[in-house]
Amino acid sequence: MGQMIPDLAAAASRASAAKIKSNGISNGISNGISNGISNGISNGISNGISNGLNGAGKKCQYDPTFTQKVIAATGPNANPRLAQIFPSLVRHLHDFAREVNLTVGEWSAAVDFLNECGQMSTDRRNETQLLCDILGLESLVDEITTKQLATSTTQTPSAILGPFYRSDAPFFPNGTSIVQDLSPSLPWYDQALEDSAFLSGRVLSTDGEPIENAVVDVWHTAPNGLYEQQDAEQPEMNFRGRFRTDQGGRYALYALRPVAYPIPDDGPAGRLLGLLDRHPNRPGHIHFIVSAEGHRTLTTQLYDSRDRWVGNDAVFAVKDELVVRFEPREGDGQARWELGYDFVLGRC
Ligand code: BEZ
Ligand code: FE
Repeated sequence: MGQMIPDLAAAASRASAAKIKSNGISNGISNGISNGISNGISNGISNGISNGLNGAGKKCQYDPTFTQKVIAATGPNANPRLAQIFPSLVRHLHDFAREVNLTVGEWSAAVDFLNECGQMSTDRRNETQLLCDILGLESLVDEITTKQLATSTTQTPSAILGPFYRSDAPFFPNGTSIVQDLSPSLPWYDQALEDSAFLSGRVLSTDGEPIENAVVDVWHTAPNGLYEQQDAEQPEMNFRGRFRTDQGGRYALYALRPVAYPIPDDGPAGRLLGLLDRHPNRPGHIHFIVSAEGHRTLTTQLYDSRDRWVGNDAVFAVKDELVVRFEPREGDGQARWELGYDFVLGRC
């Protein structure tokens, strides 16, 4: 289906381009955009109030058969999942446009905005995903997916993957560190020492059985709030690693207490945050992907309870069960803090 959507979108855009040409209305669009900007908003508001949806007890001023016409255009050989969800998408989109009296100028600005997100995206930065994140869409879809697939209520809650995952982190033996090349010349050296932490726990099945040979894939930012691929000063794969659980389902590693960081806000998604008078901050968190044979893979994050943004995450990903308290660690020259956390995986 991943293939089908772009194909259909391309076909739709070819069809609409052909229609525009044959109707000779290509100029109309650009006129419409500029008129839309200058007139649309005030017209829309006054029409909406005097004639439209917003007028209590009055009928909609727009063609009441239009949405159904668009829905009915889907053919009998459409991709089945798309045929199932497309009517709802069209209904919600059209209802939105009518409800807010969307103008051509506003629609055109939105198209430019989406294009800019796509044009900015690379394998190092996914601006469109970032847009979904600030809309809460990645978190919502994560909740829906997890609840649809859940086989038990005791499994560890999931959280979004985020755009900074790398699938090829190195494997390390249990009890080793994901912190590379910690040198006193680093500007955040002192903070790294202060936040040094030992993480350990078990990977369990929902029936409480430890899972041997589960893979715990972990990543977080440096104390400067940057993931290694965002920061030319950090070595490749810094603060990333994969660990395999032992016979008792145990994992153990050294890392750092996580710090809050702003999501990248120098692109269109950041501009939108600004227009909405919103902040870009995520609470300090550590990412995990925990996988084991016969079990559903868990993608999640643990949030440090000390963080001021825990109750106010720019991407709405925090769940209460994932907020953890680090405790002071005694007698370990490698770590000042410790965290014990068991991950519970559902069976598949
Ligand atoms: C992250 O947790 O890495 C993240 C999630 C959403 C947007 C940006 C970053
Ligand atoms: Fe993150």
